[in-house]
Amino acid sequence: MTRSFTLVDVLLVLALLSDASWAAKGNSCCKQTNSGEIRPHSVSITEFGAVGDGSTLNTKAFQNAIFYLNSFADKGGAKLFVPAGQWLTGSFDLISHLTLWLDKDAVILGSTNSNDWPVVDPLPSYGRGRELPGGRHRSLIYGRNLTDVIITGNNGIIDGQGDIWWNWFWNGSLNYTRPHLVELMNSTGVVISNLTFLNSPFWTIHPVYCSFYEVGGELRLFFWMNSQVTVQNVRILAPHDSPNTDGIDPDSSDNVCIEDCYISTGDDLIAIKSGWDEYGTTYGRPSTNITIRRLIGETQSAGIAIGSEMSGGVSQVYAESLQFFNSRTGISIKTSPGRGGYVRDIYISNVTLANVDIAIRFIGHYGEHPDKFYDPNDLPSIGRITIKDVIGENIKFAGLLEGIKGDDFLNICLSNITLHVTSDSPWNCSYIQGYSDLVYPKTCEPLKEIVSPEQYSECYNLSRHLWSSSNQNRGAWLRSW
Ligand SMILES: *[C@@H]1O[C@H](CO)[C@@H](O)[C@H](O)[C@H]1NC(C)=O
Ligand SMILES: *[C@@H]1O[C@H](CO)[C@@H](O)[C@H](O)[C@H]1NC(C)=O
Ligand SMILES: *[C@@H]1O[C@H](CO)[C@@H](O)[C@H](O)[C@H]1NC(C)=O
Ligand SMILES: *[C@@H]1O[C@H](CO)[C@@H](O)[C@H](O)[C@H]1NC(C)=O
Ligand SMILES: *[C@@H]1O[C@H](CO)[C@@H](O)[C@H](O)[C@H]1NC(C)=O
Ligand SMILES: *[C@@H]1O[C@H](CO)[C@@H](O)[C@H](O)[C@H]1NC(C)=O
Ligand SMILES: *[C@@H]1O[C@H](CO)[C@@H](O)[C@H](O)[C@H]1NC(C)=O
Ligand SMILES: *[C@@H]1O[C@H](CO)[C@@H](O)[C@H](O)[C@H]1NC(C)=O
Ligand SMILES: *[C@@H]1O[C@H](CO)[C@@H](O)[C@H](O)[C@H]1NC(C)=O
Ligand SMILES: *[C@@H]1O[C@H](CO)[C@@H](O)[C@H](O)[C@H]1NC(C)=O
Repeated sequence: MTRSFTLVDVLLVLALLSDASWAAKGNSCCKQTNSGEIRPHSVSITEFGAVGDGSTLNTKAFQNAIFYLNSFADKGGAKLFVPAGQWLTGSFDLISHLTLWLDKDAVILGSTNSNDWPVVDPLPSYGRGRELPGGRHRSLIYGRNLTDVIITGNNGIIDGQGDIWWNWFWNGSLNYTRPHLVELMNSTGVVISNLTFLNSPFWTIHPVYCSFYEVGGELRLFFWMNSQVTVQNVRILAPHDSPNTDGIDPDSSDNVCIEDCYISTGDDLIAIKSGWDEYGTTYGRPSTNITIRRLIGETQSAGIAIGSEMSGGVSQVYAESLQFFNSRTGISIKTSPGRGGYVRDIYISNVTLANVDIAIRFIGHYGEHPDKFYDPNDLPSIGRITIKDVIGENIKFAGLLEGIKGDDFLNICLSNITLHVTSDSPWNCSYIQGYSDLVYPKTCEPLKEIVSPEQYSECYNLSRHLWSSSNQNRGAWLRSW
């Protein structure tokens, strides 16, 4: 790690400079490192004394099995098989080169005793637990500093039994921030697929600090064109009134790919984050190159949200083929003075909405600060956001787009949006600037201008050929091109 300039870095730079970018590759499936890999060694959790009766606590069995399997890490890795049954457990740790495989009718149940969820340090980019000062309960399934981890199976279930945690939250008896169902920290080559996740105590799947830039040496060569984290073909379910049960929250992570998921929860289906106020800006770890496709779901919050914790920055988010119904909001960007950071280069297309209150929402004053030490003058920089090809039925508001005074959200580009709205004032925009074309109902004043050829570069990934052909100036410009 002492060499500052490696062959791999050269290759990386060449790749970034060449046409072989994500867009040009144009494939519509996540690139994976190892999805189908057969592990040469396999054990069943029953060999370690686990009892699948739904009431025997199996934390020790999971820990012992994984400890044993560690000896195969350098021999191609190993598989921990969880057969049909109800496997109650507290939090346990994964290792590298492991496949956790849940068979059909296998259910891993989270313990309802908070002591089975040990308390760990807060994330440095948050400075404290998200809900309460101090530490936080560790997730049911946890991994740190890992490579090549697969959590999959034949549609088995991981059930957090979160209702007890929601009650503790509601009646004020939590001592620490609630745990996630699955958290992978500082890990790469993670695949989560073919499972159902139920009733998380808090956010459901939380990849955090899963960053290419943390990976060194040959591993970097191995992973350089692949996802740090792939989530495919999962269902995530929690009641619509359950508190903060976000679906998938990529946090200070890059090269994340999420596809073919159905999510129905009490909070944002996918929320892209990168740390909180002064802790997030100091830690300075962005979320970037996040791909989301073929997501279906419903929520009393947003389908796709960015923020509100975005202090390390969020960029290069590509989301397409999204269907949200019976929801509060379709697409949402949430921030606040004091967050700092940025949200830029966001491309969202092919969105179908039905029975959604607000199709697009920007919130510039979300509030919620970790402590009183944040700098209210540290304003976020929000811009280059393209949203196109959206249709919606039974929508209340097309766009409630609220920027920050003295800190306009710039280059907001809306194209080909048709919404059947019920409100008389479908748009309400303040402190935003940008362009629109083929938007119905007619958009708000700050976005009225149709982008001119010289301005195309201001709109992120907006091909001029897809911009309205109804525009005369543009037509003239195209003929002269
Ligand atoms: C998930 O299921 C799909 C379809 O059955 C299969 O192609 C894929 O290999 C499975 N993934 C894993 C990691 O087993
Ligand atoms: C991540 O893992 C790498 C290598 O294992 C280590 O050098 C780095 O300090 C870790 N970072 C965090 C945040 O855990
Ligand atoms: C992960 O890496 C960090 C930084 O090197 C280290 O402090 C921490 O103990 C490691 N954690 C685990 C579980 O390996
Ligand atoms: C809070 O909820 C928990 C879980 O339902 C319950 O055990 C506890 O008695 C409640 N505490 C109070 C103070 O209402
Ligand atoms: C919080 O701490 C109190 C006192 O130690 C304990 O009785 C209670 O069970 C704890 N609550 C939770 C949710 O762990
Ligand atoms: C973006 O992430 C994908 C994996 O999701 C990866 O295949 C691709 O190479 C990354 N693109 C860049 C430019 O890093
Ligand atoms: C970028 O725009 C092009 C042309 O509109 C489109 O084909 C491509 O899919 C977009 N990229 C992503 C990742 O959506
Ligand atoms: C748009 O999304 C729908 C699913 O909502 C999908 O069936 C269709 O193929 C997508 N179209 C394109 C051009 O990707
Ligand atoms: C506008 O968006 C709709 C819905 O996604 C799509 O079917 C249609 O082809 C788009 N029209 C243009 C001109 O791109
Ligand atoms: C528009 O939004 C602003 C805040 O951003 C609010 O004060 C105002 O009442 C809204 N107007 C309408 C007509 O909803």
